[in-house]
Amino acid sequence: MKIIMLGAPGAGKGTQAKMIADKYSVPHISTGDIFRANIKNGTELGKEAKTYMDKGLLVPDELTVKILLDRVAQEDCKNGYVLDGFPRTIPQAEVLDKALTELGDKIDFAIDVDVPDANIIKRMSGRRACLACGATYHIEHVPPKAEGICDRCGEALVLRDDDKEETVKNRLNVYHEQTQPLIEYYTAKNILKTVDGTVDMQVVFDSIVAILG
Ligand code: AP5
Ligand code: MG
Ligand code: ZN
Repeated sequence: MKIIMLGAPGAGKGTQAKMIADKYSVPHISTGDIFRANIKNGTELGKEAKTYMDKGLLVPDELTVKILLDRVAQEDCKNGYVLDGFPRTIPQAEVLDKALTELGDKIDFAIDVDVPDANIIKRMSGRRACLACGATYHIEHVPPKAEGICDRCGEALVLRDDDKEETVKNRLNVYHEQTQPLIEYYTAKNILKTVDGTVDMQVVFDSIVAILG
C-alpha cells in the first residue's frame, strides 16, 4: 500500500503517518525528518536545506526528489510506504508518478488532512519535536512522559526553528501557493480522500482506517 499524506504544515500529517505506519507495517518517510536529521548531523545537505527551511521556503526540487527516490528504492519499501511531506509541488508529484509508472506501480491513496489556517498557528507553538528520532509531541494534546524528554529515545525535545509564528505564516503561504494544487492533481487521478483534521487525533485516524480498509 502506497500512501501520500497531504495537508498544511501542522495539519497532523506526521502524527497520522506514524499511526498508519504502525498499523499497516510500512515505513513512514518524511522528507522534513530526513532534512532535520541531516541538519542535526551537520551534513552538506543539511546546511543547504536549512537556509530554506528556516525561512519557511521549500527546499529546491533538485535536492528533494533525489533523496526521496533513493529512499523509496530501498528494500523495506517493497510492500509500500506512507509519504509525509512529499510531494509538495506538481513537479515533485510528476517525478514520483513517472518513477512508479516505470516500475508498473502507482500511489493508492492521497489523504488530505484538512485543517484551517487559524487552528494551525495555535497548534504549532505547542509542538515539541525530537530531532533524533522524528517523534512529535504537543505540550497540551500529546505531552511526553517526562517534560522535555523524548519517550522513544531519551533525547531532549525542542521547538523546531521553523515553528516560530512568523515562519509558520510563511509556510502557510508557501503551502497555499505551491502544495495545495496537488489536491486537484490527485482528485483528477481519483485517489484523493479528505479527512477532517480538526478533531481528536484518534478520530482522525479512525476515518483514515475506514478509507484504507
Ligand atoms: P515538514 O517537516 O514536512 O513540515 P510541514 O509540512 O510544515 O509539516 P509539519 O511537520 O510542521 O506538520 P505535520 O502536518 O506533520 O503535523 P504534526 O503531526 O507534527 O517540512 C519542513 C520543511 O522542510 C518545509 O517547510 C520545507 O522547507 C522542507 N521540506 C520538507 N519536505 C519538502 C519537500 N518535499 N519539498 C521541498 N521542501 C521540503 O502535528 C502538528 C502538531 O499538532 C503536533 O504538536 C501534534 O502533536 C499536534 N496534533 C496533531 N494532530 C492533532 C489533532 N488532531 N488535534 C490536536 N493536535 C494535533
Ligand atoms: Mg511533520
Ligand atoms: Zn526521540
